Formats: sequence, structure tokens, C-alpha cells
Amino acid sequence: MKKLLILIAGMLFAALNAANINWLVKVDNTSTAKDAQKASVDGVMPEGSKKVTTKGSAYLAIHRMAGRLYFGGTKFRGIACAKLVFDEDCTRMIGFGASRYCTLFINGEKIATTEPGGNFYSPVHATNYIKNVKFKKGDNFVAMFLRPGAVGWGFAFDLLPDFSALPATKRERDRLIEQLFPPEKAGLVARECLYYASENSVKFNFETGLPTMAGIRYKKAGEKKGVIVWDSQDALRNIETIHRVEINGLLPATTYDYEVVVLDPRTAKINALSKGSFTTFPAKGANTKFMLISDTQCDSIIRQTMVKKMLDMYGGRDMDFFFSLGDMSESFLDFRREYFVNFYDEFAKNKYFKPVFFVRGNHEFRGLEARKYNRYFGKSYYAFRHGDTMIIVLESGEDKRTFYTPGHYTLNIDADYYFAEQREWLRKLIETPEFKTAKHRIVFSHGTPFSSLNGYFSKNIEKMAGEFFYGKNPKCPIDLWVSAHTHAPYLYDPVTAKFHWADYALSYNKASGKIERKNYERKQAFEFKDQDKNNFNFPIIVNDGPGGAGVHLSAMLIETTPANIRVKMFPVSETYYTYSDKEVKAPMLDVVLERGKAVKINSTTFVEAK
Ligand SMILES: [Fe+2]
Ligand SMILES: [Fe+2]
Repeated sequence: MKKLLILIAGMLFAALNAANINWLVKVDNTSTAKDAQKASVDGVMPEGSKKVTTKGSAYLAIHRMAGRLYFGGTKFRGIACAKLVFDEDCTRMIGFGASRYCTLFINGEKIATTEPGGNFYSPVHATNYIKNVKFKKGDNFVAMFLRPGAVGWGFAFDLLPDFSALPATKRERDRLIEQLFPPEKAGLVARECLYYASENSVKFNFETGLPTMAGIRYKKAGEKKGVIVWDSQDALRNIETIHRVEINGLLPATTYDYEVVVLDPRTAKINALSKGSFTTFPAKGANTKFMLISDTQCDSIIRQTMVKKMLDMYGGRDMDFFFSLGDMSESFLDFRREYFVNFYDEFAKNKYFKPVFFVRGNHEFRGLEARKYNRYFGKSYYAFRHGDTMIIVLESGEDKRTFYTPGHYTLNIDADYYFAEQREWLRKLIETPEFKTAKHRIVFSHGTPFSSLNGYFSKNIEKMAGEFFYGKNPKCPIDLWVSAHTHAPYLYDPVTAKFHWADYALSYNKASGKIERKNYERKQAFEFKDQDKNNFNFPIIVNDGPGGAGVHLSAMLIETTPANIRVKMFPVSETYYTYSDKEVKAPMLDVVLERGKAVKINSTTFVEAK
């Protein structure tokens, strides 16, 4: 018999709770949407279909390995069909999602499709796409035509309560639905990230698979009782997927154990999802060493490899912390992937658990999920002290003004008030004892303060920080300013008023398997203006990035001691570019900085701009 009539177990759908639904699934690359439509008329499925049960709104994921054993492969198209039985004619809200392309039919009628773009939402869940559908008394058949994504496939479908009286926006509605269907266990989809630390505080973020109440339980190492700080606002625990927790009142240079915890409202139990330990920074007297990278607008595999390599270069594992100076990726359609899967997780995978700080670049303003930056990290400007070194992180915004032309990405930007807010924050910061007593003060901004490289950046930076740090006799002297963005390296020495830059570009020649060195002219480097010479009484170093002059990707190692600050900039080899030349393996720049003195250049591959 070519076709087989399958009876799906009769189920009660009168209750509002999410139900288990039994499906018949056939994976077959000859399947078409028409076959699914046909199955949704009479419930007849091809021979060899297998039974699968979806449990509530959650996603039934059939990954390649399991799929191969169970279905004979999931790189193929497929059809899933289920029977729903109702006591009377009714209209019900249904929801569905799929990895990655799905067309949904009910009783022969096409209800919705995620073709041709695929499932927009992540993670896949039955609340991804919601519709009101008319059902008839008796048997109804639901069929989905499924096409796979890159890794595997799966789908979610559920009957949902009527939410028409509830807030109308999709996001709010999703969240309410999720609260009504609490997860069995809210797993971590982005592991906890220690993105800030100081002598007496730390900040964590993490992401759970479903909205839930979550926090961090911590205690001094060796002590028994822990304290929980919840992700909450105005005395209410947040029910969210992205969680931020700030722990204050800690002791300097002290190790604490912590657990990421979730509160299950159905059982009132607090469950731990993950655990680890952190150490607060020393309040004073200590040397500081850290590494930074920037502009990792490259393949995810390169970014991941870069982290691994850095940890093994120049004593990377002994660093007190790491920094990303912005432009983590070109744009942010999937923030979690770009920031955590493709970057932060590599530190943890390689057993580095100390803080990794983030600076926002202009590219962090771009893409559908750009707004998640704040959800994960809060304010993009901040300061902290490690020993005698104070680090001040500034937000330099987009690299261009808002263009009021239809569809332009700069229409998103409302940064003027934010620069003003930062200026007032700086005004208070410089009066704090932490700032005043710091031996070294280092400022970070993604955009450079040079007026010759980007006038829009430099004007904004000067407006917010100029009155404190600029001029021959600044109100608050600083020792170093580090920027990124240009994807070409620079060094400015305020004492000699000399500007150094790379007159070469290195690129990998696939045919010869060798690194080629080309002369590179960067006109802007010659336009160093007098106004900048008057403004900057501190050294400025700009990290390298992909394309343009210099190397493909570089990192900087900054070490502070009571006497001085030493900075090395060095290329980080990665998958596609293997820097084998001795010359390239050496630091591109190795300098010693002392306030008021000319930059001492130990070695450099840069030339002096004339
Ligand atoms: Fe960049
Ligand atoms: Fe940039």
C-alpha cells in the first residue's frame, strides 16, 4: 500500500494549556508544499512516516546526527502532519516556528509561510508566528512543509490561548505567552559573561532559553552561605531572557564563588544553572596588564581563533583582563552569536575566566539586534580602577551624522543627549578619589579623537571630553588614549608632535602561500592638524584592523608599573593568514610611555609621517 492512513491519538484541546501533539513525519527530498497541502486535507501521509510528539510550545529539534538515525537524514525536506479534534466549530489562536523554512497548511488551506526568508525569530518556538485560525467540529488536519537550515531541522506548533485582549505588540505578546508556559528548566543559551569588575563590584550578563527570573548567588570562597542578587527592577524580579546582574559592596582582591540561579515560580525552587568564581581587582599598589583587540569584522572562525591565539601570546593567560574596542562585527542581526558564541565563549572554552570588557563601536549601532547591546551590557561608558591604573571608557557613537533619507541606518541614532550625559558623568568622575589618586589614567574610545581622520567623531569626542582632558595644561592629565576604527595603526607622540603610521600592508597570497608586503599610502596621515597638536597632550595609539595599512588583525598588550606604561602592538595570526615572517611575528610597535616625556620607542615597524 503506497499510502498509509495514520491515526493520531485523540487529544483534548479544550484546555488552554499547551498540549502534546502527536505528529507523523516523513523526511524525503522529493516532498513538495503540495504534498503537505494534500496531507492537511485528509491526514493521509506517505508510507514510512514516523511518529514524533511535540511537547507544548517548545521546539522539536531534530539535529543531523539523531535525524540520520531516526529519519534517514535531515538535510532533506519533509512533511509533518497531525490531527486536532474539536467539539464544535471555533476560532483558535495557533503559533508555529521552524528551523528553518516552513509552510503551514490546515484543512487544505495555506495559513502562513516563512519562505523565502526563513524563520526570522530565534530561538525557534511556537510563539514565533501567531495566527487566528477557524477549526471545524471533529477532525482537523495540520500539515507543515519543512525545508532544513544549515545544521538540522525541527519545528514547533501549538494551540495558544486567545490573547486578543492582551497588549498588541508581538514582543509583549510573546513574553506573556512564555510566562503562561513556564519552561521545565530554563537553560543558559549564553553562558555568564563577566563583563565588568572593579575593586568592589562585578557585573555579569547571561541569557536563558526562555524568559525566567534569574540572578547570581555569591559567597566568599570557603564560606558556606551565599547571597543572591537578582536581575530585578524597582523591587520586581525581571522575567526576561537576557539578564544583567551587578554585585556591589565586595572586598578588593578577594575571590568569590558564584552560581547562576533561576527561580521556578511553579515549585518556588531556586535552581543553579552554572557556577564559577571571580576575583575583584586590587584597590591600589598593583601593576596591571591586559590585552585589547578591535574591529574583528571578519569571519567568526577567525575571531574565535584569534582569542585562542592571543591567550597563548605574550603571556595572554596571565592578563588581568581583556578588552574589545568595538566593531565586533559588521552589523548585528544575531547579537548573541556575534558577541558570545563567536567571541566571549572562546575565553571560557580556553579556561580564561577573568573579566572581558567591551567598548561600543559605530558598527554596534547597526543591525536589527543593535539594541541588544544595552540589554546585555547597560551603559556603554564606564570607568574602573585596577591597582593604580584608572581606565575610562567612552562612547564615541556612529561615525556619521543622521541622514534623513528614507531607509538610512543613521535614522536610528539619537546620540547628542548621550554625549551630554557622558560629559556630566565625566565631570563627576574626575572628582572621585579613585580618579584623583590613580597613577595612570588611560582613556578608550572606539572612534579616534583626530580631526583629520573623522571630523564627526572628533567633534563629538571633544564636546564630551575636551574640557577635562584636552589642552596644554589639561584639568585632568591622562597618560594614554587608545582608539580603533581606522583599521590602520597609528602612534602620536605629544612631546615631539610626531605622528607614526604603517606604510605597508600585509596580505596573504593564496597561490604562493606567502605573506606579501606592499607599500601603502594613507593620505590622511599627512594631514595632522595644528588644532590636534594643541589639543592632545597625551600619547594616542590606534589599534590595527582588517584591510588598509598594517596587518589584518592586531592586538595590544598594555602593562602599567609605578614607573611607566609599556605598550606592544602585535599581529595575531589566524586561520587564513599565517604570519611566518620573523619580521611580522615581532611586535609592530613596542613603546614606553611616561607622562611629560617623549615616547620611548623600543622597536617599531612604523614610519614617521612627514
Ligand atoms: Fe571597524
Ligand atoms: Fe568603527
